[in-house]
Amino acid sequence: MLKIVAATKNKGKLEEFRRLLEGLAVELISWAEVCPELEVEETGTTFEQNALLKAAAICERTGLAAFADDSGLCIDALNGEPGVYTARYGAELLGAGATDDSRMDLVLKRLEGVPKERRTARFVSAICCVFPEGKRLTCRGECEGYIGFSKEGTEGFGYDPIFYVGERSFAQMSGGEKDAISHRGKAMRRFREELAGFLKQ
Ligand code: IMP
Repeated sequence: MLKIVAATKNKGKLEEFRRLLEGLAVELISWAEVCPELEVEETGTTFEQNALLKAAAICERTGLAAFADDSGLCIDALNGEPGVYTARYGAELLGAGATDDSRMDLVLKRLEGVPKERRTARFVSAICCVFPEGKRLTCRGECEGYIGFSKEGTEGFGYDPIFYVGERSFAQMSGGEKDAISHRGKAMRRFREELAGFLKQ
């Protein structure tokens, strides 16, 4: 079993990763288990750069293979924002007490008056895996959708209640339904294939 650290402190994401790598000869360990004190600043300007920063820092600290996902929501009517700043969106307005809920409200407010056809958006996920001997794997997945007019659903995490594909928000889908179409699902399936190839070498 190859031990790989999943570079996320987000329990929702960790669950998704576990589901998506099930059946491979890897043991997924969480960041919280191996180096909870390590902080990595996401200073990159692309999802790929931020994923690499996190994976490389954990690999260097632990000597174990590590993979990270950097993801975010790009909203066309907001010129692609929040993009790589999705996790910190609206900090200047909402302050330190910002929550997913207040960030979603801010997005809905900024889109007030924007009709459905101009509310297009996509979730993007970049995954980077770094191995101690220096090899790297990088994959990307995108999911096209739109920002709804209200928050709906209780599943998932983050911005799921306002991101719609078809008639339903991500938060109205089961984990399996979301995985089948989500940005992270797509990136992880590509990653899974590349990792399976790597494990055979
Ligand atoms: P990261 O953890 O630095 O990648 O930040 C990602 C940001 O995008 C966080 O605010 C997440 O809540 C949000 N995000 C990423 N993927 C999803 C998703 O699948 N659903 C809802 N929000 C997401």
